[in-house]
Formats: sequence, C-alpha cells, structure tokens
Amino acid sequence: MAQVARKTNRNMVNLLLDGTIFVAFLASTAPRFTGLAIHEWLSIAFGAAIVTHLLLHWSWIVAVTKRFFGKAQWSARVNYVLNALLFVAFTVIIFTGLMISEVALPFIGIQLAGGHLWEQLHKLAADASVFLIGLHVALHWQWIVNMLKRIIVAPRWPRRAAQPTISNQQQEA
Ligand code: HEM
Ligand code: HEM
Repeated sequence: MAQVARKTNRNMVNLLLDGTIFVAFLASTAPRFTGLAIHEWLSIAFGAAIVTHLLLHWSWIVAVTKRFFGKAQWSARVNYVLNALLFVAFTVIIFTGLMISEVALPFIGIQLAGGHLWEQLHKLAADASVFLIGLHVALHWQWIVNMLKRIIVAPRWPRRAAQPTISNQQQEA
C-alpha cells in the first residue's frame, strides 16, 4: 500500500513537472511575445527543470542504456533515441542561447562575443526541438490522458492508485 502511494505521488510529481516544463517550453519558443529578458531567464530555469525531469527518470535511462542492444522493447529503443536527440537539441539551444545572451549573462557581468553563427544554430536547434517535443509528447499521450482522467474524472487520489498505469517507465521496469 505504501509502495502504491509512493508510485502515485511520483506520477503526480511527474505530471506537475511535465505540465510546467511544457508551458515554459511554449513560452520559450516565442521570445518576441515574452520579451528577451523573460525569454532568457525562463529558458535558463527551463534548463534546470529538464535536469530534474531527467533525474526523475534516471532509473529508466540506466535500465534502457544497459538493455539497448539486448532485450529492450522497440518502443523503449525509439523513446531512447528520441530522448537522446532531445538532449542534444536542448544542450545546443541552451549553450548557443548563453553565447548570444543579451540580458542574463551581462546581468551577472559576463559578456560573450556572440555572433551570427551562434544565433543561426540557436534558431535551428529551437525549430528542431519543437518537432522533437511534439513527438515526445505524442509518444506519452496515453500516459498523459490516463493521469488527467484520474485527476479530473475520478479524483479519488490516491485510493485508485492500485490500478495499473501505462507509463513507459513501468512497461520497461
Ligand atoms: C516540453 C518539454 C517536455 C515535456 C512536456 C516532457 C514530457 C514527458 C512525459 C509526459 C513523459 C512520460 C511521463 C513521465 O513519466 O513523466 C516523459 C518522459 C521522459 N522524458 Fe520528457 N518531456 C519534455 C522534455 C524532455 C527532454 C528535453 C528530455 C531529454 C533531454 C526528456 C526525457 C525524458 C525521459 C528520459 C523520459 C522517461 C523515458 C520515456 O518514457 O521516454 N524529456 N517526458
Ligand atoms: C528552451 C530553450 C529556448 C528556446 C526554445 C529558444 C528559442 C528561441 C527562438 C525560436 C528564437 C528566435 C526568435 C526570432 O526568430 O526572432 C530565440 C532567440 C533568442 N534567444 Fe532563445 N531559446 C531558448 C533558450 C535561450 C537561452 C537560455 C538564452 C540565453 C540565456 C536565449 C537567448 C536568446 C536570444 C538573445 C535571442 C535573440 C536572437 C536574435 O537576436 O534574433 N535563448 N530563441
């Protein structure tokens, strides 16, 4: 019972964090709408939130890394490759973003050279990330719908937690 409650809480934490990073991501893709200051600070916070997102799925990452060329399911391999591409895309976005920063880094006294190349790379990786995040969310759509149904349609949290979820993490466990 305690284990079920812990799993339920974990799913809830994941859902809240996933929802938050999704909204932050949408805002980050529209710097002309938010203004550059919000764009930069929000995106830096987003980077930190992604690290938390990865830490919360660390056991999945370790498990699939070990089994990738062995007996992992194909769905897990697809997710793994996509997640790796996401990691590369966001590393490039944040790095190039810092290179062209006009607000955040100058605020803490760091002035980098910037330049057109970093700017182009930043925009290219940002475009790619929209596509990759679309796929990432689509692949976890069933989990998202199940979680929302639990909260909105049958909000008897955590007693209903004994029902199985379709979390990819669990499938792979
Ligand atoms: C807008 C940004 C993102 C959203 C909304 C999002 C959403 C989700 C959702 C809904 C799940 C499954 C449910 C869960 O257990 O939390 C998940 C799992 C996962 N995400 Fe993300 N994610 C985002 C960005 C990223 C990025 C940038 C990476 C990699 C750098 C990443 C790596 C993972 C991993 C490793 C898992 C667990 C394994 C899997 O099932 O694929 N996510 N994410
Ligand atoms: C999730 C992370 C991020 C996304 C999705 C993102 C996305 C974008 C996009 C789409 C643009 C181009 C807007 C246009 O066409 O005018 C842009 C511009 C810019 N971004 Fe980011 N960005 C992110 C993170 C960052 C970070 C961390 C920084 C710096 C701390 C940063 C600094 C900038 C700057 C200075 C520009 C203006 C470039 C120019 O003069 O056109 N970005 N970003």
